[in-house]
Amino acid sequence: TPAVIVAIDGPSGTGKSSTSKAVAAQLGLSYLDTGAQYRAITWWMVNNGIDIADPASIADAAGKPDIVSGTDPAAPAITVDGTDVAGPIRTQEVTSKVSAVSAVPEVRARITELQRSIASAAGQGIVVEGRDIGTTVLPDADLKIFLTASPEARAARRSGELKGADVAATREALIKRDTADSTRKTSPLAKADDAVEVDTSDLTLQQVIECVVTLVEEKR
Ligand code: C5P
Repeated sequence: TPAVIVAIDGPSGTGKSSTSKAVAAQLGLSYLDTGAQYRAITWWMVNNGIDIADPASIADAAGKPDIVSGTDPAAPAITVDGTDVAGPIRTQEVTSKVSAVSAVPEVRARITELQRSIASAAGQGIVVEGRDIGTTVLPDADLKIFLTASPEARAARRSGELKGADVAATREALIKRDTADSTRKTSPLAKADDAVEVDTSDLTLQQVIECVVTLVEEKR
């Protein structure tokens, strides 16, 4: 079977990561978390004293960090200049700054190039999750999925993940990040015209996984 390329986009809290990892594992495909790459470059900017409010400084520094992503869905790995940053990229500080960094065109150009080279090297195929995979990074993907969910469902899931975090505050932060991601000039979060939209509000994770696996199998 030829390599199958699956793009899974959508806002946060829709079950994108859990779904993408499970689908890749179940079908023996590679997996790429592109949000982790934007988080990693943001982590580097914060650690190197780059002013996040200054897009020109971010653009100047965009080429400096060496970001390496693993593609094993069972053990997603990410390093910056050889340092494992899988934990540190999930802090609230990075989460609150990532939209500003990922809006800078030089950052997107750099990360997009990385993503394309990883996807083209995946032997059996790959599940790539993000915001602009179907629209910009891999417009020729064999299958494009756009996951959505109500703001309530998304906030509840995120609060559950963050263990005890305030649901209202989580909801506000989520909406703020999605608005920034959807309204930026360079490849905003958007559903590709040929993407299959799946509303996960009233579905269990298992149901979403089964739905996507079936769609991939139809394409193979
Ligand atoms: O998916 P995750 O929540 O980890 O993504 C973190 C951030 O990375 C998003 O809020 C967005 O700003 C950025 N991102 C992006 N394009 C992608 C994936 C993520 O701009 N393809």
